Amino acid sequence: NVLILDFGSQYTQLIARRVRELNIFCEIKPFNHLPEDLSGYKAVILSGSPSSVRSDTAPHPDLSEIKGKKPVLAICYGAQYIAHFGGGNVAPSNTREFGRARLTHITPDPFFRDVPRDTQVWMSHSDTIQQLPGGAKLLASTHDVENAAYVIESENLYGIQFHPEVYHTKEGKRILKNFLVDIAGLEQTWTPAAFVETTVAGLKEQIGEDKVILGLSGGVDSTVAAVLLHQAIGEHLHCIFVNNGLLRKHEYEEVLEQYKHMGLNVKGVDASARFLDALKGEDDPEKKRKIIGRVFIEVFDDEAHKVEDARWLGQGTIYPDVIESVSASGGPSATIKSHHNVGGLPDFMKLKVVEPLKMLFKDEVRRVGASLGIPDERLGRHPFPGPGLAIRILGDVSPEKVAILQEVDHLFIQGLRDWGLYDQIWQAGAILLPVHSVGVMGDERTYEKCVALRAVESTDGMTADWVHLPYEFLQKISNEIINKVPGVNRVVYDISSKPPATIEWE
Ligand code: XMP
Repeated sequence: NVLILDFGSQYTQLIARRVRELNIFCEIKPFNHLPEDLSGYKAVILSGSPSSVRSDTAPHPDLSEIKGKKPVLAICYGAQYIAHFGGGNVAPSNTREFGRARLTHITPDPFFRDVPRDTQVWMSHSDTIQQLPGGAKLLASTHDVENAAYVIESENLYGIQFHPEVYHTKEGKRILKNFLVDIAGLEQTWTPAAFVETTVAGLKEQIGEDKVILGLSGGVDSTVAAVLLHQAIGEHLHCIFVNNGLLRKHEYEEVLEQYKHMGLNVKGVDASARFLDALKGEDDPEKKRKIIGRVFIEVFDDEAHKVEDARWLGQGTIYPDVIESVSASGGPSATIKSHHNVGGLPDFMKLKVVEPLKMLFKDEVRRVGASLGIPDERLGRHPFPGPGLAIRILGDVSPEKVAILQEVDHLFIQGLRDWGLYDQIWQAGAILLPVHSVGVMGDERTYEKCVALRAVESTDGMTADWVHLPYEFLQKISNEIINKVPGVNRVVYDISSKPPATIEWE
């Protein structure tokens, strides 16, 4: 296991990604939340930072339990930090150095094994190391940065000014591997199957004979979390799947059926009427979201009470959520779920939280899911928002509108599947617009609803672009929708990117 100490760099997550890609497990910890027990870590990586080591407010953690005791790779700020407090000198660069640079080796070292003598690296810093720390040997330079890489051999510590974790550093992965495998002696054994084995064993120990409640959404994360927990504690896992009446057509019945096939102990709760009642007449998007969130908590709390002696709440939290919560709360407070045992909250929130996926990135969750035998259909499912079709019905929501949108969405998604387009798309769906327009069907004038189709490509939902669906497909699907869904006489395709638009319309 590798410890990545985060000094607040925008690239810290990328370091973790690269290390995991080498099949080596790693964890990110905020610099001011150094674990007390470091015995499980075979190597430590110090990240970059937006701060300057010369500033009083910059991260200045005590590394006495690390430095000289474990192999260390200090990147950018990390390398400057070691230099600044180790007898070297760090000063502002004459020019800020961002972007590509050519790195040339000065001294041969296993750190640069199989890396060409002249290689492209990525720089992003405004301070520079003018004088190396005591005991350090210069390993490599660039045109503008003399001290671009150094080693303190007696401590097995490497300092580098460039960023091996970004793709623009051509040999970045090789350099990380050289450090982690050859120098620190880590084994490349972290695979989805190994993760399942250790996680299931860990969950057994953590939970023992207790009962766990988990809310399933039909999505990838909660499903994989449930299957892992089920392998660990079997029937002591109680899953709840709530139909909020805003799911896709047949989604509730199909997903429930699929969960039963997976052997999960799932209780389906059809609370459609309760949600739709609460939404009646509300046309403000944020208020709709709040209503749905509140009703969900009420329904879930009611159901959770029916499971006697439940001690744990299972959640499908994944790594980006954890990291975001840590940074949002100012870094150090790793107590992310600080609401435990606070009065006034629903009872299920007072349960202890177990989050088996909280160390995984999304694609790793999918790989773990596949190794657990979860059907591809579930793992490859497009993201679907918690408030469901309510935020795709612009304006107020009614059962009739939900029924119309379910039909349109079903035809669209099924069409994408039939045409082999579904898996190339990150997210797709239909939107019911609060617009009526004139049409003509047969000899009759119509004055009916308009729907928009949306299909986007993205990697994380933060930015997105519309998909260039084939005209033939759009033509066919538009015809099909207008012919088959009463009440709709016009179909448009959304060609906005995010930003400046968003994926959902509300
Ligand atoms: P936007 O519309 O912000 O959506 O570009 C980005 C991603 O987030 C999903 N989304 C939501 N998911 N509750 C959710 O669980 C919400 O209120 C919500 N709003 C947007 C959206 O479907 C897309 O994947």
